[in-house]
Amino acid sequence: MLVLGIETSCDETAAAILKDGSHLLSSIISDQIIIHSKYGGVVPELAGRSHVESIHQVIEKSLNEAKVTLKQIDLIAVTKGPGLIASLLVGLNTAKALAYALNKPLIGVNHLEGHLLAVFLQETIEFPFIALTVSGGHTELYRVDGFGMYKKLGRTRDDAAGESFDKVAKMLKLGYPGGPVIEKMARLGNPSAHRFPRSFLEKGSLDFSFSGLKTSVRNVIAKREHGERPDLSDADISAGFQEAVVDVLTAKLIMACEQEGLDRVVVTGGVAANGALRERVVSEGGENGLKAWFPKPVFCTDNAAMIACAGYHKCLDKLPVSGNALDLDASATLKLGL
Ligand code: KG4
Ligand code: ZN
Repeated sequence: MLVLGIETSCDETAAAILKDGSHLLSSIISDQIIIHSKYGGVVPELAGRSHVESIHQVIEKSLNEAKVTLKQIDLIAVTKGPGLIASLLVGLNTAKALAYALNKPLIGVNHLEGHLLAVFLQETIEFPFIALTVSGGHTELYRVDGFGMYKKLGRTRDDAAGESFDKVAKMLKLGYPGGPVIEKMARLGNPSAHRFPRSFLEKGSLDFSFSGLKTSVRNVIAKREHGERPDLSDADISAGFQEAVVDVLTAKLIMACEQEGLDRVVVTGGVAANGALRERVVSEGGENGLKAWFPKPVFCTDNAAMIACAGYHKCLDKLPVSGNALDLDASATLKLGL
């Protein structure tokens, strides 16, 4: 079964061709860093326009690289939400037009389900497991009992983990996106030079909060500008901030496993590309008897292979798939799980 995946929820225009759920024939990602970096974050209007300009070339490239034609595609899977509405609509309408013109089945995929299942591109993980989804828009803990069986255990009450990386990078004038640049800086700094606060919320809560940490970083930068703490470098602040995020994410992940009595974890989403987080989940999780899986970094950040993969698993028990779902609508605030 050949699936064409299309992803345009934020600032990556992506298309991928996936064969039989795990054999990836191509994955094309066109980012918009050049467009948004001067603003220090994604400008929704510009993102939508840029998707319009590149979507056809990206799809064509994915087909060429996979050496398949549109006629050979068995299913089109497209992100229907959550995300920026102007961005989502470009991918969704393109997918609908292709499905209609070629009379192919079409399925809408929740972007978070795509992130959650990205690891299945590499190997099959036995259910149930705990998934930590950490991206620019979401920080959520799920209990996963099967494909489509997601129970939300915790979520951020304010900023997402990735958003806090982006905001701290902006405060330090390190550029956009913030995650990779903070990670790079952090390697040169001393995480103990300043201890930033960790917010664990009420006892037993699996929710997250990163806005206090962000404010604390802002205050430390202001103090440094006023001549206090001249010893603190950007690298020290990056390292101290990153360590605070990693501490909280790892502790809550372990708590979720204890609460649910599970020992398998999947960490996914853009922030899961972070080496410090991956190392800590493996080491501290390992000490607590957990086994962890991560998608390759390129499948942690936004891509269409994960959308094709989720679409494949959603349809597998409904073969042959029929109907081209032309009434499918995009939703900026689409939720996943109960
Ligand atoms: O999953 P993603 O590509 O898009 C969303 O669905 O939001 O995640 C993007 C987020 C950004 O906030 C980016 O700064 C963060 O993931 N990110 C990282 C790293 N690479 C990307 N955060 C920490 N360390 C990284 N290496
Ligand atoms: Zn994402």
